[in-house]
Amino acid sequence: MEIYFSTSKENVNWHEVAEILNDAGLSELDGKGQELVFKNSYVIVLAYDGEKIVGCGRAISDGVCQAAIYNIAFRPEYRGIGLGSQLVEYLLELLNGQSIILYTNPPGVSFYERFGFSRAKTAMCIYDGSKEKLDMMREHGFLLPKGYRFTDENVGAHERIPEYE
Ligand SMILES: CC(C)(COP(=O)(O)OP(=O)(O)OC[C@H]1O[C@@H](n2cnc3c(N)ncnc32)[C@H](O)[C@@H]1OP(=O)(O)O)[C@@H](O)C(=O)NCCC(=O)NCCS
Repeated sequence: MEIYFSTSKENVNWHEVAEILNDAGLSELDGKGQELVFKNSYVIVLAYDGEKIVGCGRAISDGVCQAAIYNIAFRPEYRGIGLGSQLVEYLLELLNGQSIILYTNPPGVSFYERFGFSRAKTAMCIYDGSKEKLDMMREHGFLLPKGYRFTDENVGAHERIPEYE
């Protein structure tokens, strides 16, 4: 098996990217959708075994100081042999000293800590503005409980807690 990494957005079989991300449960977009998403990204990294795409990752960025990493995934038979780490390290190199955010599924936390990522206490998100997506992400353990406050947060007694219902 000879794996190589490519940052090219040309002559890519986007259906393979869609398949990898679908199978990993990270995105339901089809090939056309992934083509738009990846082409609109600041940098992408695709891992190839010969002509077959076996892993992917991408980052959006302002190109100067702020970036966000998304869609890191490998086909199951290519996991556990160091390729995911190589791909993340390559993306970090390409982002060259920028501040980088990402969110991951709960098991992915320890994977990203390996590269120096710290858990962010005040990260906030709106998922498409949709309650369904928010509920799904909550169910899968991505979010702290509604209205959660850390014990050292200075919260006013009559502070309004946003409601989603
Ligand atoms: C996450 C993923 C990209 C890691 O790629 P990989 O090639 O399997 O990872 P590596 O072989 O480089 O593993 C490096 C280390 O991280 C650990 N690790 C791998 N995947 C992990 C995960 N999901 N959670 C926690 N630790 C993980 C490995 O055990 C390994 O530890 P070791 O060095 O002590 O043996 C891959 O498992 C994957 O595609 N998962 C499905 C998609 C996903 O969940 N992506 C992350 C959310 S964005």
